Amino acid sequence: MAISIKINKTQHSRIHKVDFENIQFGTIFSDHMFRVDYSDGEWKNPQILPYGDILLAPSLSALHYGQSIFEGMKAFKDQNGKAQLFRPVENIERMNLSAKRMAMPELPEEIFIEGLKQLVKIDEQWIPTKIGSALYLRPFMFATDDYVGVRPSKNFTFIIFTCPVNSYYPKPINVIVEEKYVRAFNGGVGFVKAAGNYGASMLPTFEAQQKGYDQIIWTDGREHEYVEESGTTNLFFVIGDTVLTPNIDGTILQGITRKSCIQVLKDRGFKVEERKISMKEIAEAYDKGILKDAFGTGTAAIIAKIAGINYKGKDLILPPVEEREVSNLLYNTLGGIYTSQVEDKFGWIMKI
Ligand SMILES: Cc1ncc(COP(=O)(O)O)c(C=O)c1O
Repeated sequence: MAISIKINKTQHSRIHKVDFENIQFGTIFSDHMFRVDYSDGEWKNPQILPYGDILLAPSLSALHYGQSIFEGMKAFKDQNGKAQLFRPVENIERMNLSAKRMAMPELPEEIFIEGLKQLVKIDEQWIPTKIGSALYLRPFMFATDDYVGVRPSKNFTFIIFTCPVNSYYPKPINVIVEEKYVRAFNGGVGFVKAAGNYGASMLPTFEAQQKGYDQIIWTDGREHEYVEESGTTNLFFVIGDTVLTPNIDGTILQGITRKSCIQVLKDRGFKVEERKISMKEIAEAYDKGILKDAFGTGTAAIIAKIAGINYKGKDLILPPVEEREVSNLLYNTLGGIYTSQVEDKFGWIMKI
C-alpha cells in the first residue's frame, strides 16, 4: 500500500545553532516531526511538519490514565554519508505489542516505516557522524480523548520526532541491586514500553543516584533474588566462558540490542544462556574470580559497561573495561554494523 504523506517543511531550520560536538542526550530536536492521528477506527492524515508544540485538552486521557507508549531507535550514516536505520521492523512489532497490552490501536507497519524514512530523509543533515553518536528517533502514541473516566480512548495520536545524540553513558557505570522497589510483575506491563513503567522507576533510580550509583539492577518482585534489567538496558554477565542474560519471561523488555547481541555472540561461537540468573550466582562467581564482564544493552547506551555492582552492601568490582572480551566485541561489532564499517551479515540495516 502506498502511503501518501503531506509534507510541510519549516522555513526556519535551526541546524546552524547546534554545536554537534557538545550535545547533551535528549535536549536538541531536529527540524521536523511525523504525525498521524487515529479516529473512527482508522489512522488518518499522515503528515510531516515542523517540530513544535502541540495543543492538548486538560482532560486528555493519556495524561490521567497513562494510555501512552513509545519506542526508541536510531538512524546512522553509512561510510558514504547515506542515512540508514537499524532493525526498524523490530520496533514497530514491539510497539504494536505495547499497543495491544495497553488497549491501543496497532499502527500499520507501512505507515511507521514510510513516515520514519521520509522524516529521517528530510532531516538527514541532523544525523551526526562522530563515533558513538546518532540521530535518536522517538516514536510514541498516546490517547487523546477529552474524557474523564477509565476506559480505552477512541482517539490517538502517533508522532515521531528525532534528536541528534552522543553516547548515553560516557563512562562505565556503577549499579546497585534493588531489593525494596519492584519494576514489574508477571501479568503486568513490564514487557512493553508503557510510559508509566518509566514514571514508576524514577524514585527508586533517584534514590540510588543519591547513594552515588548511576543505575539500579531490578530484581524479581517475589524474592528480589533474580536479576531482571537495569534502567533502559537489558543485562548480560560473563561467568567463566559462558555469557548469561535473563530470559524474556513477561517482566522484562525484549530489547532489540539484546536480541542482536545474542545473535552476534552465537555466530562467533560463544556459549550464551538465556535463563533465570540469581544475584547469589553472580556474587559466588565474583568470589571465585570468574565474573569477567557485566554490561547493559540498549538502543540509547548501546553497550553500557558496568564498573561495579553493589549487592547487599558489598561492591563487586569488575575487571578493567579494556580487558573485557565480550562487551568490547559487541560494542565494536554493533557500532560497526550501525555505520556499515562492519559487514551487515544478518541483514539488519534498512537503507533510506
Ligand atoms: C526497560 C528497558 N529495557 C531494555 C531496553 C533495551 O531495549 P532496546 O535494545 O530495544 O533499546 C530498553 C530500551 O528501549 C528499556 O526501556
